[in-house]
Amino acid sequence: MRRKNALVIGIANKDSISAGIAEQLYGAGYNIIPTYLNDKALPYVREVTDELGVEKLFPYVVGNDDQLQAVIAYLRENSLRLDAFVHGIAFASEIKKDLHEVSWESFKQSTRVSAFSMVEIVSALIKADVLNPGSSVLTLSYIGSHLAVEGYNMMGPVKSILESLVRGLASELGGKGIRVNALSPGPVMTRAGSGIKGFSNLLKVASDASPLGHTAELEDIGTMAVEVITNPSINGVVYLVDCGASATIRVDPE
Ligand SMILES: NC(=O)c1ccc[n+]([C@@H]2O[C@H](COP(=O)([O-])OP(=O)(O)OC[C@H]3O[C@@H](n4cnc5c(N)ncnc54)[C@H](O)[C@@H]3O)[C@@H](O)[C@H]2O)c1
Repeated sequence: MRRKNALVIGIANKDSISAGIAEQLYGAGYNIIPTYLNDKALPYVREVTDELGVEKLFPYVVGNDDQLQAVIAYLRENSLRLDAFVHGIAFASEIKKDLHEVSWESFKQSTRVSAFSMVEIVSALIKADVLNPGSSVLTLSYIGSHLAVEGYNMMGPVKSILESLVRGLASELGGKGIRVNALSPGPVMTRAGSGIKGFSNLLKVASDASPLGHTAELEDIGTMAVEVITNPSINGVVYLVDCGASATIRVDPE
């Protein structure tokens, strides 16, 4: 059976959620085609991708069309088509500010990087005709999309936009056989996570709120990602992987 191909955008280091997803996809028979943000990030990304048989990595910063076209040119030159695209990127320059203090410039930039980039990249892949029928797009959201989580500030509304884009793209692209979904994991200690004010407390709150008493592991998020990516009946959905934390209000007995 031929190995499938997955473009994975969002590995910063071994703690990245996209690293956990790439590892499970590799185990499920996918070639991983990863990008990295810049030269500074490259050695940390390689620590992940060296374990996944990856020879070629591509620089990619949201909005750099030449970089995206270089990925597409590589696919074409090597007669490769994609079966999966993992969109695991987020950025918010004013994440530490309260929502009502955030500038439009920062909100706009965050929306582009963390949400609309999924549309831009999918659009380029479709135009270049490098997505196989039956292929799958997966992005990463958070419960802050519909609950005001203290410290999550501007990213809450941005994740709402992202989830709405998932539904919109899923509706539009179903006719091309392309499915679009999101996972919504509980908090994970990553570089992006550590930028959020009070993140260690958030981890503790999520762990205490879970009936299971812990938060999601990268491996569990990765195996769920493989299921969502490969299951032909899953489309336009945001799946929680949060150990039940958001389904429960826990009260200490007096
Ligand atoms: N860590 C958590 O608790 C958590 C929970 C739920 C959802 N998420 C989401 O998971 C996704 C991955 O984040 P993570 O927690 O693994 O953190 P991470 O820091 O490991 O990954 C974030 C990635 O975004 C990339 N990125 C940022 N700006 C970019 C730009 N301009 N162009 C291209 N790439 C850019 C970074 O290079 C990095 O690879 C994000 O969408 C995040 O919001 C994280």
